[in-house]
Amino acid sequence: MPRQAAHPVAELFTARWSPRSFTGEAMPQADLDTLLEAARWSPSASNIQPWRFVYGHAGSGAFAGILAGLVPFNQGWANKASVLLVVASKKTSVAPGATDAKPNPWHAFDAGAAWMSLAVQAHLMGYITHGMGGFDAAVLSTALGLPDDAQIHAVVAIGKRGPKEALPEGLKAREEPNDRLPLSAIAAEGRWTF
Ligand SMILES: Cc1cc2nc3c(=O)[nH]c(=O)nc-3n(C[C@H](O)[C@H](O)[C@H](O)COP(=O)(O)O)c2cc1C
Repeated sequence: MPRQAAHPVAELFTARWSPRSFTGEAMPQADLDTLLEAARWSPSASNIQPWRFVYGHAGSGAFAGILAGLVPFNQGWANKASVLLVVASKKTSVAPGATDAKPNPWHAFDAGAAWMSLAVQAHLMGYITHGMGGFDAAVLSTALGLPDDAQIHAVVAIGKRGPKEALPEGLKAREEPNDRLPLSAIAAEGRWTF
């Protein structure tokens, strides 16, 4: 059953979803660069661009390091991705002309916008993406050499969609697009009604 939008939206918003079955085929660096380029053009507070991405291609030590930082449930299917990409951001910034770094309250918000740009670009190019919050931050931070000034938000599995049948038992039945809350549950005029 295809997703039904309650109001007219561009098709990509309902057609994009997060499958877990990947083919594992190699992803050209040029394609990954295009995804990152889409993220680069995201809006951010004061144009600080706090987002940072660290990635590994399948078969590399970087990929293995990121995979090892995922919770076992995610390792069970993300191991077939073409690329594992860590989405992080810098928590502080130095204003032009200043020397002190100040907290940037919008670093996470802006990193979220950048990840969505990347996901949309991926969808338009025939790739699938699947964000994951299920990771061990300490393990990943060590693997990446993350400074104190940075925060990891998610790991994204990127690749080409594989057959549902290739998934571990238990995940096959979940391999379909889900639905959303009604608009009335997430948006209201004037006052918080939720
Ligand atoms: C920040 C974030 C964390 C997520 N964490 C996980 C995860 O650890 N494991 C998983 O299988 N899916 C994870 N997901 C996928 C969501 O469950 C999925 O995006 C949501 O159900 C909406 O479905 P859709 O992306 O197919 O539209 C995560 C998604 C996001 C954006």
